[in-house]
Amino acid sequence: MTALGAAAALVLAACGGEGAGGSSSGNEGSAPEDLTIGVSMPTQTSERWIADGENVQEQLEELGYEVDLQYAGDDIPTQSQQVDQMITQGADVLIIAAIDGTALSSQLQAAADAGIPVISYDRLIRDSENVDFYVTFDNFAVGVAQAESLVEGLGEGGPFNIELFAGSLDDNNAFFFFEGAMSVLQPLIDDGTLVVKSGQTDIEQVATLRWQQETAQKRMEDLLTSTYNDGSRVDGVLSPYDGLSRGIITALQNAGYGPTTDGGAQPMPIVTGQDAEIASVKLIADSVQYSTIFKDTRDLAEQAVIAAEAFLDGDEPEANNTEDYDNGVKVVPSFLLPVETVTADNIQTALVDSGYWTAEEVESGQAE
Ligand code: GAL
Repeated sequence: MTALGAAAALVLAACGGEGAGGSSSGNEGSAPEDLTIGVSMPTQTSERWIADGENVQEQLEELGYEVDLQYAGDDIPTQSQQVDQMITQGADVLIIAAIDGTALSSQLQAAADAGIPVISYDRLIRDSENVDFYVTFDNFAVGVAQAESLVEGLGEGGPFNIELFAGSLDDNNAFFFFEGAMSVLQPLIDDGTLVVKSGQTDIEQVATLRWQQETAQKRMEDLLTSTYNDGSRVDGVLSPYDGLSRGIITALQNAGYGPTTDGGAQPMPIVTGQDAEIASVKLIADSVQYSTIFKDTRDLAEQAVIAAEAFLDGDEPEANNTEDYDNGVKVVPSFLLPVETVTADNIQTALVDSGYWTAEEVESGQAE
């Protein structure tokens, strides 16, 4: 047990209660089929969250648990309502990937009052002490990997014109990705190798509410008109997520970047991404998008299941990071998974050989 876990257990013991995350969930000895895990996912517009939901559900059902899986359509009130309902219907553990990391405090209080442990999934739930565990990837490393692949794709020389995009400011991950990326890019901006021609380098200026593809496309279009109408070109774009990358690429293609049927085109800038979404993997195979960051959602689902089982057994899940994820109220014990950069060179080894996508899916750009 971690020091933090021990302290929590002591406090709970002192209260004499069965609080969430405590040493007794009250479920020890119950058969899995008598236990329900509520799984709350943000949206089905992105295929990664569909895969996350399915993976968690399948793995829990294989162990015999009942699963209540809900998607909230990226709508905060819908997610609050779904979580409320899971609690009133007697969920024994909650696994939640929040839309807005700060919007679930009252639900989490209700969960704690009912002794239901809460696992924050991929995105940290903020401003609540009632988050018992966090399973995620190494989010700072994601940003570092994105920036390193941008720099690698640009190659020797410079100065290169780049533009920066960040994710949704209500998602704690967006800050980790951006800070990780800037830890690599800032020194190169400072020494003049990289030029952010728009001058927009603050996360507030470059953020994309709800990670929406259309919003990123619109901002890229605006940047091209406002900043690159003088004959200059964009050489690279830091994009933190494949959905945004596709919007950015559409804007660039509409402005004449990338191969066209008449051949006379500006080379496509180096565009990064994240999640290895199938449409983007195809764009990478076709040399349109440069890279993505692969986060194996099967492994994340497995960690969430391991954590849920630990709570149901009255134990504390094992954390491998008890420092970095302060949610504003406390440092949440976390389990961080590693990430892998994918370019055209390793689609086969990273994504096909591992069974994440089939060769046919990569070829067609569509999940089967
Ligand atoms: C983040 C997540 C990324 C990406 C993004 C948009 O929270 O960590 O992998 O999926 O949301 O959905």
